[in-house]
Amino acid sequence: MAGAFQLTGKRALVTGAAGGIGQAIARRLAQAGAQVALLDIDASVAALTELAREIGAGAMVLSADITDPASVDAAFSSVKDRFGGLDILVNNAGITRDEDIFEITLDSWKSVIDVNMTGAFLCAKAAMEVFRDQGTGGRIVQMGSIVGHQGALKGHLHYSASKSAIHGMTKTLARTGATLGVTANTVAPGLVRTPMIATAHGDDPSLTEKVPIGRLADPDEIAASVQFLASDQAGYITGSVLDINGGMLMR
Ligand SMILES: NC(=O)c1ccc[n+]([C@@H]2O[C@H](COP(=O)([O-])OP(=O)(O)OC[C@H]3O[C@@H](n4cnc5c(N)ncnc54)[C@H](O)[C@@H]3O)[C@@H](O)[C@H]2O)c1
Repeated sequence: MAGAFQLTGKRALVTGAAGGIGQAIARRLAQAGAQVALLDIDASVAALTELAREIGAGAMVLSADITDPASVDAAFSSVKDRFGGLDILVNNAGITRDEDIFEITLDSWKSVIDVNMTGAFLCAKAAMEVFRDQGTGGRIVQMGSIVGHQGALKGHLHYSASKSAIHGMTKTLARTGATLGVTANTVAPGLVRTPMIATAHGDDPSLTEKVPIGRLADPDEIAASVQFLASDQAGYITGSVLDINGGMLMR
């Protein structure tokens, strides 16, 4: 379909852009015509430098810690200076730790909650302020998870709590944003082949047996949905959770 899901003239910011899913999202948004700010905690990593080179003039790279309000403010200021504004936020950065309830310390609980929830909050707030001041509407896509619905396969209590929170946060953003022309939606992947899955599950070969489709998702299969939700064609979709899990959970 010619012109479907094009993002020409749009300005996007992707958090966690050096990671498996973040890279795929940034690449897709750029291929659809958007200028893309690639944000990660350490922007000097090779993956991000190479991605920026691949995207070319439409890319900017930002080192920022999304748990730090000053760092988030500086990043959004840089985007406004360079792109002249912002139209799309993809709140993708996230971490997990392979721990169960008996192993999770208060410090590790706080670190997961800090990145996955507080970081998403700080970036969503900054984006909403830009969208409100511009008066042009906007798009927020949040990265939830299948575990936000059904709990984690293993005992990742902090991670599953943070992802359930993302699902709820998105709905409130959607209600607030509705009067400002802003949509907010969650993408909820199942198992995606990225470094995070290696952290959480090692190379457990039985993982694919849990997926009716019989394989893990490729990061681009998540990115394609983010592109759609960021596009004009998704303008009437807000507050939704889009499940992308190969049939692991059917609701
Ligand atoms: N991989 C999966 O199977 C899966 C499934 C469901 C949801 N998700 C979600 O998708 C998102 C991306 O996951 P991924 O698999 O690509 O993980 P990943 O580990 O490959 O990438 C995460 C990125 O976030 C960045 N990051 C971490 N803390 C940060 C901080 N404080 N400030 C800025 N950047 C920070 C990391 O540096 C990394 O580049 C996460 O929110 C994750 O919870 C992943």
